[in-house]
Amino acid sequence: MTSAITPVQALQWTGTHLAVLDQRLLPEQLVYKNYNNAKGVADAITTMQVRGAPAIGIAAAYGVALAVFQHYQHSPKEWQQKVAEDIALLASSRPTAVNLFWALELMTTLLAQPLNDPIEATITLAKKIHSDDIAANLTMGELGADLLTGAKGLMTHCNAGALATGGYGTALGVIRSICLRQAMTIYMGETRPWLQGARLTAWELAQEGIPASLIADSAAAWLMKSGAIEWIVVGADRITARGDVANKIGTYSLAVLAKQHGVKLMVVAPTSTIDWSIENGEAIAIEQRSAHELLPNYYQHEGSFITAWNPVFDVTPAELITAIVTERGVVLNPTLQSLQGLKNEIL
Ligand code: MRU
Repeated sequence: MTSAITPVQALQWTGTHLAVLDQRLLPEQLVYKNYNNAKGVADAITTMQVRGAPAIGIAAAYGVALAVFQHYQHSPKEWQQKVAEDIALLASSRPTAVNLFWALELMTTLLAQPLNDPIEATITLAKKIHSDDIAANLTMGELGADLLTGAKGLMTHCNAGALATGGYGTALGVIRSICLRQAMTIYMGETRPWLQGARLTAWELAQEGIPASLIADSAAAWLMKSGAIEWIVVGADRITARGDVANKIGTYSLAVLAKQHGVKLMVVAPTSTIDWSIENGEAIAIEQRSAHELLPNYYQHEGSFITAWNPVFDVTPAELITAIVTERGVVLNPTLQSLQGLKNEIL
């Protein structure tokens, strides 16, 4: 049974700084780093101190507020040009999570208006993006838990929890919510090579006293074959207009396996993760990270014959997805048409 512990905050606005929980150090160390400029925030995103699509978007929004804070005071004549440069820097921090570009677009649109107090206005909008995300997570938690009612087991992949969002989580928010209602057997994949499952999801669940079992990523097929799970529940980095979903590498494998074994696939993401400008998932930029993240040290020398191919996301076609859960409602068997209902409500 869960306790009423408030989930961890990956990002905290202090009034003058953004405090970022360095997720590279979890679960052994809980260390916050303070950033007072956009460059620091962009670096925190690129180096995975903060990660997870919604959290990246929120951090970037605060990064813009910090840019305005810095340049409006110190470069009154050219502050807008300098803020635009910082926004471009933030946009280059990671390519796949559309929440980053969504948040930067909101901040850019705000800054295009005449503002009495640009510092106050940008801080207020960044805080709203943050609090709206938490509210969306709580709504999705309930909607997703409704779908899970009566199920006995599920598996999640990567970390789509409080650490990856404004708080509470998307996929992990649904898991939090269902565990408040009924017993559920939970499995999580390690999520190589960064081990977001083994380090981060395991830690979040342990914090709240939710029992869960870790599996090697390669054990997923056998787990499904055992009949222990009815659902896979994951987050998303970008969802296209027809419902193709980019998410952590390995999600596509799970989706293919799920089809073979009659397991259902739930994708939980706020509408800020939907990229209406792209219809087909093939158009999504998939981040390739350094071979160093994957290669054993033994092979990391000049002239080594062994390198690594390290895409960190993949795309699951809509046809393999049972349900997309957003704060605006649930879309079953997503298609271009069925997702349109969510678009119409966009602010
Ligand atoms: O590389 P990461 O750790 O940023 O990847 C995160 C994921 O793939 C998550 O599943 C996704 O961003 C959703 S987080 C609510």
